[in-house]
Amino acid sequence: METNYTKTGIRVIDEHHNKLLSVITSLSDIINKKNCKVELFEVFQKLVLYAENYFVEEEYLMQQNSYKNFSKHKIEHNKFIAKLINLQANLNNNKNSCVELHEFLVRWYEKHIVEYDNNTVEFLKSKIK
Ligand SMILES: [Fe+2]
Repeated sequence: METNYTKTGIRVIDEHHNKLLSVITSLSDIINKKNCKVELFEVFQKLVLYAENYFVEEEYLMQQNSYKNFSKHKIEHNKFIAKLINLQANLNNNKNSCVELHEFLVRWYEKHIVEYDNNTVEFLKSKIK
């Protein structure tokens, strides 16, 4: 996975993107150490916090600046939360659960952060500056 993250220049968004990257990295370590049974629950806790804090802040920024694609973007956030709940409900604390969560997060990072958040960032920068 590409980890050379390009900063957006918007502090709140950069901080949270970095937070997600660190969760993905720690999940890789857990898989490598075969430690899913012990540590997967903690990873979910971190992701719930990530989603609660980051999505709210990002949605606030979009709303404050009357971003036209706000609803579309919010739908993606809601899908992330729904998927997280679904994965947690089917959690077996085994390697497969870890790998499935890892794949989901990498896809989310590549798709959402690169596509949606970057489009949003471009818009916000034109408004904020
Ligand atoms: Fe987003």
